[in-house]
Amino acid sequence: MIERLLSARSRSIDSSGIRKVFDLGTKMVDPINLSIGQPDFPVSEAMKEAAIAAIRENKNGYTVTQGIPQLLAAVRQRLAHDFGDGWSTTNQDLSAVITSGTSGGILLALMSILDPGDEFISPDPYFVMYPQVGKLLSAHCVLCDTYPDFRMTAARVEPLLTERTKAVLLNSPSNPCGTVLTSKEIADLVQLCERRGVLLISDEIYDEFCFSDARENGLCPSPGRVSNNCLVIRGFGKTHGCTGWRLGYAAGPTPLIQEMAKLQQSTFVCAPSPLQWGVVPSFQEDLTSVLEEYEGRRQMVLDAFSGVANVTRPGGAFYAFVEVPQKLNLTAAHFVEQAIAKRVLIIPGSVFSHRDTHFRLSFAASRAKLSEGLGILRELMSK
Ligand SMILES: Cc1ncc(COP(=O)(O)O)c(C=O)c1O
Repeated sequence: MIERLLSARSRSIDSSGIRKVFDLGTKMVDPINLSIGQPDFPVSEAMKEAAIAAIRENKNGYTVTQGIPQLLAAVRQRLAHDFGDGWSTTNQDLSAVITSGTSGGILLALMSILDPGDEFISPDPYFVMYPQVGKLLSAHCVLCDTYPDFRMTAARVEPLLTERTKAVLLNSPSNPCGTVLTSKEIADLVQLCERRGVLLISDEIYDEFCFSDARENGLCPSPGRVSNNCLVIRGFGKTHGCTGWRLGYAAGPTPLIQEMAKLQQSTFVCAPSPLQWGVVPSFQEDLTSVLEEYEGRRQMVLDAFSGVANVTRPGGAFYAFVEVPQKLNLTAAHFVEQAIAKRVLIIPGSVFSHRDTHFRLSFAASRAKLSEGLGILRELMSK
């Protein structure tokens, strides 16, 4: 009976291809899991202590919808550091809201601006959630093909804009490719969006994982540095190892943030309260050694595929998007099946794209496992 009651909206959502590989991984004996989209280091002691202390001090009830003032102040300080004083609390034209994960921020943002039939632009390859949110809101997620270099430039976006376009979703560093746009590429996108009256939404969940060669003046390029009209969405899960805490934040023009907070009140209510306290110390943490470790693993990946397969050098995050060598004459899905038969879990590109020519490899795995997995993949490619 229940099946008959399920909405067309719900039925239109595919169960994520990532989840299928994840389930396979839990059933396999000793898998080499290079499919994981979360960091392989623990939450810092300072953050754990702050969360535990909050629970012990009975800070377990609802918080105000927008988030606890202490965390909001830390967020604004961080934004002012990254983007300039315009983003500090003194500028009332800009605001921030603490969200239930970065996903919560993306959903609230798109719910705030999209009516049925409206359009938003997403890169292809994309983070799996983007087109799904389009379906949830009966809006069109228009894909911007970024092959073969995976750069969502203004020149590629402009021809896709129509009268119904409300937003452009930018993800840099990106999932699944690790692409980091330059500040010039970002400034061009900002200019295009402002000229056409479209909101630029910048999903910066991997902001801290921007490798040294992609940083500019020590920072990850972001539209926040050149525009007060964009919406910046960031998270704590990937960069601080606490994906299950479900915490992120969105910052941008005050009227939009107010709208998002209003929708949060009627949906998530507030982000998990003791964990909001838990992430306050995250802004003091030095992630240099983690970043160096990921940079080292990126080199392992590039070395392993050198001369065997095309891989665009990732500028950040912890993923590489690897092309299945054409001489194998295989779809990525078939190649992934072969890899899984050899215990190596990776994700076919079709989960992130309309094409099925690449696979996503996560290097958030120990060097020993990564090296073993890379050896097997290289061997499969050299057949
Ligand atoms: C680009 C991107 N945005 C958003 C998210 C969702 O993050 P969260 O767990 O904070 O909701 C992910 C998670 O994989 C991601 O890769």
